[in-house]
Amino acid sequence: MKARFSWRLTFVALAAAALLGACGDPADPDRPAAEAAPEVPGEQTYRRFCLSCHASGAAGAPRVGDARAWAPRIEQGMEVMLRHTIDGMPGMPPRGMCTRCDDDELRAAIVYMVERSQP
Ligand code: HEC
Repeated sequence: MKARFSWRLTFVALAAAALLGACGDPADPDRPAAEAAPEVPGEQTYRRFCLSCHASGAAGAPRVGDARAWAPRIEQGMEVMLRHTIDGMPGMPPRGMCTRCDDDELRAAIVYMVERSQP
């Protein structure tokens, strides 16, 4: 009787540990992927929302790293690029599809792309 009781306790403890493990799952989609890594401003936003078009040039998006595609856009100035991103452009939904990004996050993502698209 006594042995059976402690076996049960062990089982409950194991089940509780498993549950706690499930709650601590880091795969929460709303959390920045790499909280521990030093963060480059704009990189998270770029990777999650902008990369899908701006890495490949899908839908005619200026590709990151393509200095020629970016030059005329950079020339317009940051405020114009930010305004176009917020409002959307042909081929780009408003806010580059990141509806929960604030203007500063969008600006940081643009800076991130522009810095990597210099001649
Ligand atoms: C669905 C595809 C798509 C996504 C996602 C997307 N873009 Fe774009 N983006 C485009 C296309 C297409 C253009 C070119 C539009 C044009 O010139 O008519 C563009 C152009 C731009 C430009 C140049 C604006 C200008 O004034 O010339 C900036 C800056 C930009 N995107 C930023 C972003 C940012 C920041 C994100 C992520 C938050 C993002 N984009 C996500 C498709 C996308």
